[in-house]
Amino acid sequence: MQTGRTTLSKFLIEELAAGHSDLGSLLIDVAAAVKSISVILAKGALDGALGSLDAQNVQGEVQKKLDVICNETFISQCEWGGQVSGMVSEELEDVYAIPDGNPRGKYILLFDPLDGSSNVDFNVSVGTIFSILAKEDNEPAVTDDFLKPGITQVAAGYALYGPSTMLVLTIGHGTHGFTLDREGGNFVLTHPSILIPEETSEYSINTSNSRFWEPPIARYIAECKAGTSGVRDHDFNMRWIASMVAEVHRIILRGGIFMYPRDTKDPSKPGRLRLMYEANPMAMLIEQAGGWASTGRQRMLEVNPTSIHQRIPVVLGSRREVERVEKYHAEYDAGTDTIFDSPLFGERSLYLEN
Ligand code: AHG
Ligand code: MN
Ligand code: MN
Repeated sequence: MQTGRTTLSKFLIEELAAGHSDLGSLLIDVAAAVKSISVILAKGALDGALGSLDAQNVQGEVQKKLDVICNETFISQCEWGGQVSGMVSEELEDVYAIPDGNPRGKYILLFDPLDGSSNVDFNVSVGTIFSILAKEDNEPAVTDDFLKPGITQVAAGYALYGPSTMLVLTIGHGTHGFTLDREGGNFVLTHPSILIPEETSEYSINTSNSRFWEPPIARYIAECKAGTSGVRDHDFNMRWIASMVAEVHRIILRGGIFMYPRDTKDPSKPGRLRLMYEANPMAMLIEQAGGWASTGRQRMLEVNPTSIHQRIPVVLGSRREVERVEKYHAEYDAGTDTIFDSPLFGERSLYLEN
């Protein structure tokens, strides 16, 4: 047995201020949910849980069997302990309020139980993302309790189900990574106080959408692709796993920029990802690790939500790169981006050639 290691429980006892033990208990329940989901996912095809259902979720997306199983697992592990008064999930249409007669607490929980589920049938890394907000009372939660900007989150995190299972979380004092020790059953602090490298040469974006991008995004990516022959003067690498959790995890450890920007593919959707349980928790983790998260036009954590399943453009990662993308949006909106020093980027139309 290895001793002297910092387990998640020890970390929470040491890091949480007096009077916040309820938050610690809730995070332990979240970790228990993650362990259960990790066991379920590791079964792969053995339990017949792969594949899709004949159903769509509230967002009109095909539901995988595992989307539903992971959702039910997360709820059942977190609803009993008396720390929360309600939950919002990607897989539930409405707020789930803890009913009268059940113990309730002053926290509310938002989560994406299975992120990257399009990958799950192919044994590619997937994740769980969660966000915790505080509430003044422990009455059953209603929609308005959830519609708070990300800056008010008291904790956020994700689980990554890869070759190892990791829990990466913030309670507002840095971003810390724990690796599941399966034999001992503990999450062990393996990545304390993660800091995102400032310099990066790696971008993540689904380039199949490039003809639908706005010019600032097209400009940024064109410059990355031009590498040493363009204004950036160095070559870039590209990664796209199609699991946001895996993408963010790589970025917090070795730097990079992740974008799922607004595009014109479906004008009714102002982005692909969801503000409350994808963008906001990731933005808190990224900021706590020294990076930056934005819509391209606004700090993500300051966006005032209008609905629980709201979609939002996402640009996050190494701070200088995200700020560059914000600058390109500002120049485009001000109409000052039409002339560039580089002949490669001298015409707006060129940005759109990808
Ligand atoms: P979810 O599986 O929870 O719906 O989220 C998937 C998200 C995110 O993880 C990923 O970055 C993105 O969708 C992938 O989108 P594309 O399929 O367009 O690449
Ligand atoms: Mn997701
Ligand atoms: Mn999901």
